[in-house]
Amino acid sequence: MTTSTLSVDTEIQLIAAGAPGATGSTCTPGLADGPWVFDLQPAPSYGPGASLADPIPADTPRQGVLPEVYKTASKDELDARIRAAKATLGDRVVILGHFYQRDEVVQYADFVGDSFQLANAALTVPQAEAIVFCGVHFMAETADILAGESQSVILPNLAAGCSMADMADIDSVEEAWAQLAELYGTEPDADGRVPVIPVTYMNSSADLKGFCGRNGGIVCTSSNAATVLEWAFERGQRVLFFPDQHLGRNTAKAMGVPLEQMPMWNPRKELGGSTEAELLNARVILWHGFCSVHKRFSVAQIERARAAYPGVQVIVHPECPMPVVDAADSAGSTDFIVKAIAAAPAGTTFAIGTEINLVQRLANEYPQHTIFCLDDVICPCSTMYRIHPGYLAWVLEELVEGRVVNQISVSADVAVPARVALDRMLAARP
Ligand code: 13P
Ligand code: SF4
Repeated sequence: MTTSTLSVDTEIQLIAAGAPGATGSTCTPGLADGPWVFDLQPAPSYGPGASLADPIPADTPRQGVLPEVYKTASKDELDARIRAAKATLGDRVVILGHFYQRDEVVQYADFVGDSFQLANAALTVPQAEAIVFCGVHFMAETADILAGESQSVILPNLAAGCSMADMADIDSVEEAWAQLAELYGTEPDADGRVPVIPVTYMNSSADLKGFCGRNGGIVCTSSNAATVLEWAFERGQRVLFFPDQHLGRNTAKAMGVPLEQMPMWNPRKELGGSTEAELLNARVILWHGFCSVHKRFSVAQIERARAAYPGVQVIVHPECPMPVVDAADSAGSTDFIVKAIAAAPAGTTFAIGTEINLVQRLANEYPQHTIFCLDDVICPCSTMYRIHPGYLAWVLEELVEGRVVNQISVSADVAVPARVALDRMLAARP
């Protein structure tokens, strides 16, 4: 794996500089080097599932103080400590790293991948006493649900959440479900299809995965969303899709569902803000959620990239808004993007619409291509960025001492039905 000695901010600015009109500026300077300053701020601040300036959901654990030694250690000291702890622990620990993690962390991962691959990876390491998940809160929860009884799942910084995941909570989804049941009834049609199937994106709390398991539903990731929607349409007349409206809309549109049959559900409004007629005609009801990182990509950026680099291949993540996906050459999960670049002939130019750490890594790994991020002002996923090597060193050294810190543990009443929905997801291969 390619790693770099440049600081993260410097690297980000280099990649940003490829985009037409780029200023090379980042929207969150300083995020890279001292994320602990956000750990204990009063709300609005960071918390599991929260992004910059989002309120912390009630009753969530907060990141405690990271011991000073891990904040002040140099990069080389942290590197030595992490490597030594990993060597001592051997097979007792497995480190999983999402593609959006910074290279400084990815270099220690035993598995690097997208959400679907990392969920599978959690299943394949029964020998490990501890799974250290370098990703965000919902990924660690999923790993805990899939992992064995005796395994502990650790999120190095509890403040690594996902703002999109927080846009749907169990109370709002239960309320929506009750309103829909009143409208549609609960009886299947002549083909045995129930009125509505709940589908939650992997980027959601364990509660919501449990809700899907209890109500005949399923989990999807961005790599198997189309397979999952097919599964759902075989069993239901329509789908309630949460929390990401864009993934839901882009996937259903590609399957031929007309936009007028995809009303939005805004949990703050009666009937989600749609009319009864719209909901009766619906095939996919889209929750009002989005990713703040992918929402930044625009058609104007694609037009600028095409003007500056004729023949450029534009690939975006399906969390981008529909006009962006429509204007791109292709759209797919992080793994799709990785594979498309790996398969391209040397000398291809790519403009990528996804999180900068992945774009930056691909640009480093494939110097035979020109690869840049579509956005000229770079916004990393601020919550993925919470996993600094200082936290990783801390949780590993605690494990060496026989202590499990920052454990993510999903209670059985949630985990059992969530596992049902996750097993359905794992069977729906991309
Ligand atoms: P992938 O499933 O493509 O890895 O995406 C996860 C994510 O959080 C994207 O924002
Ligand atoms: Fe959540 Fe978006 Fe970050 Fe993915 S990139 S973890 S969806 S905030």
